[in-house]
Amino acid sequence: MKKINLGLIGLGVIGQMHLKMAQTLDGAQVTAICDVREDVLQNTANTFSIPKTYTDADQLLADPDIDGVVLAMPANLRTAMGVKAFAAGKHVLTEKPVAMNAAEVRELLAAQKASPMPNRIGACCSCRYHGLPSAKVVKDFIATGALGQIRVVRVRAVMAAPPTMPFNPPPIWRLRKDLNGGGILMNWGQYDCDYMFGLLGWRLQPQRVMARTFPNIEAYASYAHPSSDAETHVVAFVDCIDTSSDRPVVFTYERGEFTSSASDEIWQMIGDKGTLRLWMKEKPGKQLWFDHPTDKGTVSELLWEGTETWDQQHGMPIHDFARAIREGSAPTTPLEKSLIIQSMFDAIYASAASGESCKVAV
Ligand SMILES: NC(=O)c1ccc[n+]([C@@H]2O[C@H](COP(=O)([O-])OP(=O)(O)OC[C@H]3O[C@@H](n4cnc5c(N)ncnc54)[C@H](O)[C@@H]3O)[C@@H](O)[C@H]2O)c1
Repeated sequence: MKKINLGLIGLGVIGQMHLKMAQTLDGAQVTAICDVREDVLQNTANTFSIPKTYTDADQLLADPDIDGVVLAMPANLRTAMGVKAFAAGKHVLTEKPVAMNAAEVRELLAAQKASPMPNRIGACCSCRYHGLPSAKVVKDFIATGALGQIRVVRVRAVMAAPPTMPFNPPPIWRLRKDLNGGGILMNWGQYDCDYMFGLLGWRLQPQRVMARTFPNIEAYASYAHPSSDAETHVVAFVDCIDTSSDRPVVFTYERGEFTSSASDEIWQMIGDKGTLRLWMKEKPGKQLWFDHPTDKGTVSELLWEGTETWDQQHGMPIHDFARAIREGSAPTTPLEKSLIIQSMFDAIYASAASGESCKVAV
């Protein structure tokens, strides 16, 4: 069977990671790469033995041998490139954040629909934590109905600042509204929400949001690029409808980095029959717990324990993309699902700016 040929545009930190992970693809291969930095382009081609190199993405998109492209440049450049890629008949896997805002996700979806080739895959790399073995355990457990009617989905993931700058030098785009659409919500929120909403089979429909965002604190000013203007801390209350039951579910969300708080993570799905305590990132000795009522009061039961690796989550998006192209089936996070998350994020930013609650318009 002919191998699927992929092209990768953007050879920075995450582009290099995709190439490393692509080495274990079965039935697909990266045969073309592109970056505006000539030296990085040539070094990368040598390191990974990639036959075709381009400094102009339009030329890569015009290459008829390329079936699909991975877009790994900063967010402000990706939508225009994605639209061109669909117009050139390519399948598209885009990095996270999926786009700068929901209007851009709609542009991508329209371009996907208008592609001259049928059934183009449009996928987002925010899916990557679904590649961890515990994600399947969680999904299967939720499917048993043991949690009953879900009431609250809760994520609190606040990270203490490390002793030295985590990025040196700090990337310009990372906390810039005009380059990344926002700050930590766009950087981490897309993983967090893709994970929790995806585990629930996308049955939560966000309706209304009340949120606050906060800028970086003075003590860690040097951890962010001096031109940064986006948040490093976000708190949101999101009123959702569970479409499987038409009942309300509250999603409470807090993410922070470089904070004055000690690191603290709580991931819960709280139902009327039981509560699942989980964890998104890979870690050694990761555990999943089921808390539930008994005649001795609420007890905690260990559901699963295991060690997951960094490669398992980093390799997931490109493997999932290649599988979706090969099988002609849906990727784990198609653009339609990314639109739900990005629409919620638009409402979070609107609420934080206005001080009012805002409707989520998907
Ligand atoms: N760094 C990470 O760990 C990480 C993880 C997951 C997702 N992401 C996302 O991936 C995107 C890129 O992040 P990064 O850290 O790799 O950034 P980066 O700045 O390290 O790399 C971006 C690369 O894109 C290239 N580029 C810019 N414009 C281009 C163009 N028009 N054509 C071709 N190449 C172009 C740059 O030269 C650079 O090599 C961001 O949106 C980020 O949110 C990053």
